Amino acid sequence: MIIHESVAEWMKASEGGDASARGLVPTMGALHEGHGSLIRQCVSDNTQSLVTIYVNPTQFENPDDLSNYPDSLQDDIRYLESLGVSDLILPRYKELYPFDFTLFVDESLDSKVLCGKNRIGHFKGVLSVVMKLINLTQARRVYFGKKDFQQYRLVSKMVEAYFMPTRIVGMETVRDEHGLALSSRNRRLSPEQLNLARQMNGLLRNMLLSTDEITRQLNDWGFRVDYCEERWDRRFIAAYLGDVRLIDNVEMTADVRAS
Ligand code: PAF
Repeated sequence: MIIHESVAEWMKASEGGDASARGLVPTMGALHEGHGSLIRQCVSDNTQSLVTIYVNPTQFENPDDLSNYPDSLQDDIRYLESLGVSDLILPRYKELYPFDFTLFVDESLDSKVLCGKNRIGHFKGVLSVVMKLINLTQARRVYFGKKDFQQYRLVSKMVEAYFMPTRIVGMETVRDEHGLALSSRNRRLSPEQLNLARQMNGLLRNMLLSTDEITRQLNDWGFRVDYCEERWDRRFIAAYLGDVRLIDNVEMTADVRAS
């Protein structure tokens, strides 16, 4: 695997290269099996498989969240090598934001609900950095997990709206054997909190419970529910356990809608 320590290094190395078989998985590091499924697909679909690791400050509205973000670069590099990734790019802030955050991409509808309601500016940061990463890599396929379904939906809309010559590939959520969606944040849960977190997906899937009932139940167990809502034919949840914010969503079956 070639490690490009900056955008400049990547630009130099890729000059004149063939972008037509290039795939990208943008990440913020702290890689786990959830990323692994995107990366495996990227490696199998493309001759050149790129991964970026960049903890994007513009999408964190809470500075503590940014400073608590796990850093495990050496483990990540070993993991990416084991998956057969061809190129890892490690951009730097000044390269990605030459004019700081004065130029950006924003969306005014789907980004204002669910995770965008209380995290003002979050998706503005996500869309802006994803556009930069797609443009600078020229990747033809870019892989996103459906655990962050709202992000996947917004990025897909951006690519369509701006005629970007790339395809967004959405991958199913990877879960542990108890149904808990894999996330780098799970590492911050205590064993008791982990047990509780594992109950969340079962509740979300329960066709007989309304979103209000799920919210009440989770709050009783000690979660602090941010939202539990149905839209876009899916049921979404975001809830805190201590200071760890967990999200999940499931496709709504006909049964869910009838309940
Ligand atoms: O999902 C993430 O890890 C981030 O939002 C992304 C897509 C890498 C942009 O910073």
